Amino acid sequence: MRRIEIFDTTLRDGEQSPGVALNSDEKLQIARQLAKLGVNVLEAGFPISSPGDFEGVRRIAQEVRTLSVAALARANAKDIECAWDAISVGESPRIHTFLATSPIHMLYKLQKSPEEVLELAIQAVRLAKLKVGDVEFSAEDASRSEVDFLAKVFSGVIKAGATVLNIPDTVGYATPEEYAAFLRAVMERTTGIEKVKVSVHCHNDLGLAVANSLAAVGVGVHQLECTVNGIGERAGNAALEELVMALHTRRDQYDVDTSIVTTEIARTSQLVSRLSGMVIQHNKAIVGKNAFAHESGIHQDGMLKDRSTYEIMLPSDIGIDAETIVLGKHSGRHAVHQRLTDLGLDLGESQFEDVFSQFKILADRKREVTTADLFSLVDLKTETE
Ligand code: KIV
Ligand code: ZN
Repeated sequence: MRRIEIFDTTLRDGEQSPGVALNSDEKLQIARQLAKLGVNVLEAGFPISSPGDFEGVRRIAQEVRTLSVAALARANAKDIECAWDAISVGESPRIHTFLATSPIHMLYKLQKSPEEVLELAIQAVRLAKLKVGDVEFSAEDASRSEVDFLAKVFSGVIKAGATVLNIPDTVGYATPEEYAAFLRAVMERTTGIEKVKVSVHCHNDLGLAVANSLAAVGVGVHQLECTVNGIGERAGNAALEELVMALHTRRDQYDVDTSIVTTEIARTSQLVSRLSGMVIQHNKAIVGKNAFAHESGIHQDGMLKDRSTYEIMLPSDIGIDAETIVLGKHSGRHAVHQRLTDLGLDLGESQFEDVFSQFKILADRKREVTTADLFSLVDLKTETE
């Protein structure tokens, strides 16, 4: 089984979510948890963007020594010097430099010709390489770039010393089949591609970030860039927990594994949500409150007979020890009876029938019938006898 690396950018691209600003203590707290989670590369920030970010990146590089710590830099000397100042104290530092390669970005944003962009990219990688061995180059808006031009830029930066090439879908425009074909074409035409790691970085504007990243796994990429809870610019980035659990649950299909300790996923997700202030939607895959909750009678009955009827992963796989059967108006006899028995409330048949009809009346008024409600129903029943 091939090992794929997880590059976590929660503290850089994730922090670019509108309304999110983490101070350096919070960043450090998340970084320690990401180390426990087992990510391979942690992008700690964009040091030139603010003194606070610089400090956060530096503290992480200093303290978190079991993984590679990356810092972002645009393709210019000032950014690269600053990124290096922040991470040079680290055990395994990586400079991540980027430049846009799509006609739209080159024309309107950079206002530079393709020849100038090629030259700037090469110079940036050369400069970064004078500082550190591990240099990642990202071609911003790669998925809307021309294949031949992108391959030319990549061949140039490999020659200049890049160790990782990132092919982002910056604006979340790609679709899985098209993205896979695009990656194949670029990789085929890039000279020296066998010497470097290939990475993808997908945004979620069309809700396809995870699907596109998985399509890239099929092409043979070595690194996936993602964020915890999928936070990030606009609609966010590929969600780490979704990618990892898709690869884990469907390893029959992908035949790759990661170094992620899946039982740390829930804890990491909650920490990032709490510190970033980004609330997790209840039906969010893997880490949402309802991701392992079963409410309908038919599903609950199936689950009680065998969990595999409606559960493709166990809550304990991601580190939750939760009651997954939620008692509500759709619940049937079997689930209510089981819960009463689990609570040590062994009722006779007719007593149970009375409690069950009271349960149904209550469930019509309440979204969820709790353990305390069940005790009250049983107490009420015994008092009236
Ligand atoms: O989305 C993007 O292209 C980026 C790059 C800086 C990698 O975040
Ligand atoms: Zn991005």
